[in-house]
Amino acid sequence: MAKLTIHENDKVSHIEPEIYGHFSEHLGRCIYGGLYVGEDSEIPNVNGMRTDVVEALKELKVPVLRWPGGCFADEYHWRDGIGPKESRKRMINTNWGGVVESNAFGTHEYMELCRQLGCKTYINGNVGSGTVREMSEWVEYMTFAGQSPLTMERKANGSAKPWRVDYFGVGNENWGCGGNMRPEFYGNLYRQFQTYVKNYNPRRKIKKICCGANVDDYEWTKTVLETTFTRSEPEQHGFMDGLSLHYYVHPYGWKHKGSATQFTVDGWYATLAKALYMDELITKHGKIMDKYDPKKRVGLIVDEWGGWYDVEPDTNPGFLYQQNTMRDALIAGITLNIFNKHSDRVKMACLAQMVNVLQSVVLTEGDRMLLTPTYHVMHMYRYHQDANLVSSELSDVKAAGTGDGAVPMLTESVSVDADGVITITVANLSADEAAPVAVTLDGEGYQVAEAKIVCGADIHSHNTFDDPHQVAEQDFLDYSTEGGGLHFVQPAASVVALRLKK
Ligand code: AHR
Repeated sequence: MAKLTIHENDKVSHIEPEIYGHFSEHLGRCIYGGLYVGEDSEIPNVNGMRTDVVEALKELKVPVLRWPGGCFADEYHWRDGIGPKESRKRMINTNWGGVVESNAFGTHEYMELCRQLGCKTYINGNVGSGTVREMSEWVEYMTFAGQSPLTMERKANGSAKPWRVDYFGVGNENWGCGGNMRPEFYGNLYRQFQTYVKNYNPRRKIKKICCGANVDDYEWTKTVLETTFTRSEPEQHGFMDGLSLHYYVHPYGWKHKGSATQFTVDGWYATLAKALYMDELITKHGKIMDKYDPKKRVGLIVDEWGGWYDVEPDTNPGFLYQQNTMRDALIAGITLNIFNKHSDRVKMACLAQMVNVLQSVVLTEGDRMLLTPTYHVMHMYRYHQDANLVSSELSDVKAAGTGDGAVPMLTESVSVDADGVITITVANLSADEAAPVAVTLDGEGYQVAEAKIVCGADIHSHNTFDDPHQVAEQDFLDYSTEGGGLHFVQPAASVVALRLKK
């Protein structure tokens, strides 16, 4: 039997709510049709935002939403997305399917979406094909409260008050689609561009995110930090609040991603082993960051993560629309446990992407909507937001899978919230074996206040528009507190959340 030892009074680090963040790009049907249908749509909406989708997302307590990209961000010119919709400039979305972008969803619409979701804002600026002036004016347009030609324009466009920009990304993937830059060149551009991301409201400082590495490009991290952190300006902390990291799980590599729904048991384990790799990436990038930023003032911002497979048959290859199975539920459970465990350094993470693209929490088809297995895991894990990670450890855990797919059967993380309620989340990676677990806590007298599980009939289980409840969050009953201790038996291929209080 596996043992889970919890020291609930040993607080390790604070879990920023933003670790449970999301990403929305002008890509496929993420924005158009997914989040936004326009005021004149027959699909029920509030100011153009789909009511069904927004209501479902509110249940997740979305803490932050990144926009407008992704690769799209470094081709986006914000002025094209303001003013009367009928006269907004159209553009070709060269990254994603070559479709014509109407710009009907722009800054005002994004801010309205965040208002409806009650989440923080994370705007990603354009370094690759934009100018310092363009970026600087966007920030002024959004956040300056005084009188200026730009704020007059904002008012004329319907927003008298400035908005709050919580995070601002200075470019995206500038090592690739954001300009194919070398790290030193980007590091210098970062220093320049960020200078003009002004704080018009000193009480609401914008947190600046520098473009970090792709996967294991440790050289990028090292060189960008070497360029931005200078000995003569130690108090500047590299002029940044966060450094990003992007990592996607491709089961068989970038060129052979495989189907989202049809995979072998070996494919299951190969995928989960790749999800576990996130731990090594954070540890190694974190070690480099420690050298420049030993006090951990700069957060590692994993603002793109998730599973990435072949698109669904007969869909536009540029739209990255994929289904979502129990395998994705496990990717989410494993990854979120890793983020919690690294919450001393990881301060934000954005699942890619929110709706209809890659590992989404919601899929839509016309006026229909479904919640994916990943949605249900994010929902169970919402209690970790703003709680404190406490020290916990698994022992006597069996191994599962073989070769490149060899994985431990279980992963976990544990937090305690402001009311003293303990949240334990456990992922069982085994495709076919249930896991008995004995839990030991330092204190006594805890009761199970809530126990939930996400599992399916099979590792391939997923929700479809005709059968949308194949996988859902359910009550978890297979636990006992007899004799003072907590024991539970976690089914194969499942994610469990237990809440304990005295
Ligand atoms: O999420 C899809 C794409 O993946 C993003 O646009 C880009 O940043 C990354 O390569």
